Amino acid sequence: MEKAEVLKEIIETRKSTFPKNYAGGEIEDRVLEEILNSAQFAPQHKRTNPSLFRVFRGAEKDLLGRHLADIYKETVLPQNFLQKKYLDIPEKIGKSAAIITISVNFSGLVPEWEEIASTAMAVQNMYLTCNANQIGCYWSSPGLIQYLNPFLGLGENQKCLGLFYLGNI
Ligand SMILES: Cc1cc2nc3c(=O)[nH]c(=O)nc-3n(C[C@H](O)[C@H](O)[C@H](O)COP(=O)(O)O)c2cc1C
Repeated sequence: MEKAEVLKEIIETRKSTFPKNYAGGEIEDRVLEEILNSAQFAPQHKRTNPSLFRVFRGAEKDLLGRHLADIYKETVLPQNFLQKKYLDIPEKIGKSAAIITISVNFSGLVPEWEEIASTAMAVQNMYLTCNANQIGCYWSSPGLIQYLNPFLGLGENQKCLGLFYLGNI
């Protein structure tokens, strides 16, 4: 296939796949590295390297799931608390082979939206690389991520923009 045809096919067949549809099992290190590597090729203004990605697998991933469930319990009004949602959060993370947290570093050198835009383009690269490697993925942005800064060790000029779920399909 011509280069342009291959690219068109990868772009046009990209879609989100949710954890309930993941087949289970680990993602090969080589493939995960390729996914992260592709993110580095997103355009950026003034080379501020705005995207911050952190991979969670194994016990660390379980900890992230439990932490998000705890955040839910601590921040929801008691009368709105749903036990099912509390249990679903770690379960959904458990069904994924890996989670990549998507965060942005605001350098102050360019407008914030430009660094968010560059980070979103980096995520698109990851989406496309997942597609080319038959890995399911999707970008989730639950309200709970606004409380993740301490867990992720993010500073005041940094913000978590979401969770990138990955799994075999
Ligand atoms: C920035 C961003 C945040 C998103 N947040 C959520 C989310 O919190 N929950 C959700 O179900 N889908 C969310 N989505 C949508 C899915 O990731 C997915 O893109 C959408 O279902 C469209 O399907 P497609 O990717 O197959 O075209 C988000 C998408 C983007 C771009």
